[in-house]
Amino acid sequence: MTDEEDRRKQQGERRHPSDKDETAMPRRAHDSSRVRAAIRTELEEVAEESLGTQTETRPVPRVISVENVTLSFEETVLENVSFAARSGETICIVGESGTGKSTILKLLLRLLIPDQGRVAIDGEDITHLTFDDALKVRQKMGMVFQGAALFDSMTVYENVAYPLREHTDLQEDEIEARVREKLEFVDLEPHKVMEQLPSELSGGMKKRVGIARGLANNPEIMLYDEPTSGLDPLTTATITYLILKLQRELGVTSIVVSHDIRSSFRMASKIALLANKRIGFFGTPEEMTGSDDPYIREFLGGF
Ligand SMILES: Nc1ncnc2c1ncn2[C@@H]1O[C@H](COP(=O)(O)OP(=O)(O)O)[C@@H](O)[C@H]1O
Ligand SMILES: [Mg+2]
Repeated sequence: MTDEEDRRKQQGERRHPSDKDETAMPRRAHDSSRVRAAIRTELEEVAEESLGTQTETRPVPRVISVENVTLSFEETVLENVSFAARSGETICIVGESGTGKSTILKLLLRLLIPDQGRVAIDGEDITHLTFDDALKVRQKMGMVFQGAALFDSMTVYENVAYPLREHTDLQEDEIEARVREKLEFVDLEPHKVMEQLPSELSGGMKKRVGIARGLANNPEIMLYDEPTSGLDPLTTATITYLILKLQRELGVTSIVVSHDIRSSFRMASKIALLANKRIGFFGTPEEMTGSDDPYIREFLGGF
């Protein structure tokens, strides 16, 4: 036994017995009942909180505002699209494939510029920014790309460190501390995964690493493109729980693009339904299920 192990053991023995049990327990991130219970608790807390904000008189600032945006490629994709996200909200953009969901994320990142209308981040119109100023705005945002999109030839450590190396002057020890912190936040054990390559990870673990990388710069806004596509129901639940945890613990404002209506209902403060180039519905999940609009009823199907 090394000195370090010896010291830890002794400390462990001095702790309260229940603490010791906790440390001795294996991690059970995939325990379905625990995950479901966590999601239920989170949902209840989120519901309580949103009730709280309704009685609050102070307005919650709009972090993201999309105003009358029209955009065409060969054909018009978005026509007069408007919606807003207030601080700490999770907005889920749902809609069938090809309706322009990923395009909206590119507009927020200013990778695309609208033909008409404007996009504002923290009240600042980003439509006509210079390239350098657009980069600064982009640094307020963490992006989780479709399919996790990790760099295959880089270790998990280098993947998560990548935005820090690109956009900060942090020293290596600070980078390592940040990488560890973010991996822990997404319930991965840093010492186990840091040196692994993406090909050695399960689909769910890749998504977590993608989220950890998106979080590396401590962004105030997180954008997710189809974070649960291709995942089994249990892994979908754990990713949904993580997005909720971000909202609850870090107050991050999130835009989640998804065609998975079930997980959207679990995490959304508001749902934006994109159909026929427009936002066909914008409101809470409860308002959506209560709607008798025929298109919404058809979209929800048997939900
Ligand atoms: N860079 C582009 N050039 C031309 N057409 C594009 C481009 N990006 C997206 N589109 C078209 O815009 C529409 C919406 O695309 P997208 O936003 O990716 O849809 P979704 O994410 O909802 O599936 C599609 O018809 C797609 O072919
Ligand atoms: Mg898409």
